[in-house]
Amino acid sequence: MTPSDFPATVDTLWLDVRLATLAHQAQYGIIEKGAMAVDKGRIVWLGSIETLPAGAVPKARSVHRLDNAWVTPGLIDCHTHLVHAGNRAREFEMLLNGATYEEIAHAGGGIISTVNAVRNASEADLYEQSIGRLKAMLAEGVTTVEIKSGYGLDTENELKMLRVARQLGRNFPATVMATFLGAHALPPEYKGRPDAYIDLVIGEMIPAVAADGLATAVDAFCERIAFTPVQIERVFSAARQHGLRVKLHAEQLSDSNGAALAARFGALSADHLEHLNAAGAADMAAAGTVAVLLPGAYYFLKETCKPPVDLMRGQGVPMALSTDCNPGTSPTTSPLLMMNMACVNFGITPVEALAGFTINAARALGMQDRWGTLEVGKHADFAVWDIDEPVELAYRMGGNPCRMTVKGGEIVFRSSTAKLGRHD
Ligand code: NIG
Ligand code: FE
Repeated sequence: MTPSDFPATVDTLWLDVRLATLAHQAQYGIIEKGAMAVDKGRIVWLGSIETLPAGAVPKARSVHRLDNAWVTPGLIDCHTHLVHAGNRAREFEMLLNGATYEEIAHAGGGIISTVNAVRNASEADLYEQSIGRLKAMLAEGVTTVEIKSGYGLDTENELKMLRVARQLGRNFPATVMATFLGAHALPPEYKGRPDAYIDLVIGEMIPAVAADGLATAVDAFCERIAFTPVQIERVFSAARQHGLRVKLHAEQLSDSNGAALAARFGALSADHLEHLNAAGAADMAAAGTVAVLLPGAYYFLKETCKPPVDLMRGQGVPMALSTDCNPGTSPTTSPLLMMNMACVNFGITPVEALAGFTINAARALGMQDRWGTLEVGKHADFAVWDIDEPVELAYRMGGNPCRMTVKGGEIVFRSSTAKLGRHD
């Protein structure tokens, strides 16, 4: 961009910033001594202060000086179950005492305990119980969050969850992208009749979700304790007929060839992937399906099989990270903690971790044209951090150095304690 491209007027000019644009794959894209102009919610100019045209400052309706804080794209949490009721702290004790996630599920706990809590909660109660989690994310630089249904498992309650997700997006300054996850677990009333439940998912739930525009994608859980590839294929075909994108919880507890299935349907993402095989990774690379890694669930379940990061990197599969915020396997709202865990436990580099919560997360939502980098034309969604260098985002274990979250050019969160989060 040449200086002459600076617009005649802009809403805001951000000065004294260090930018990590993420605009070049696998690099921070650092602009020290940066400046950024925003107009009508979009980035209209960015670059080094030296290239800012002399008359730019008076063209801005307001100017923010950030005393050298770092600015990254707003974080994108592309896989969450943020809308849920209750908690599963008791199951945590069972896990600590040696029970496995599958054993807890077989004993009637697991996902079904949260299904009972969600079914018993009113829509208003479910909304109230979810607000705190969304606020915590906003305060950690999150500007877009994907939220799945999947704890209703009947038409009424699945739609209830998706309406709550929509309401959160309307009432809070984050973009909420809702995903229908009807094929998450078999509800008790369908015990022994999984195909009949899939009939309900494709015959009643997906058409209702699509008719109300309540979700943009359809997810499923491909696993021994959930649904088979054949059943999920039926769900994906129905999704496609209704113009919805697909994604999949795949290869979390075992290798079920879910990644290959996801790739065959041009899935946006395949998620978890601890047990991904080489053929699945190759299929994902060819289909452009993003790998969403979920270090919180890996950690919480004391999983020992790591997702094959080297294999995916070698194949050129884009890797995103996410909190998987849910009460059973990843009770967290912290992207930064996930970045640290992904580095330590998965061998992701700090820059890959940040790309995993920005550009690659945007890809996992099919929204890379709009979000995920700081570039002219993209939405002005960004986070301002009180850190000395970008690697600090993945380095710290807890603490929150987010000074500000900016959505569409507006400051939507301002910390009074960010400096305290630095522990120095
Ligand atoms: O992403 N794997 C399945 N679904 C969630 C867990 C849901 C739950 O246990 O409540 C996950 O880990
Ligand atoms: Fe999940």
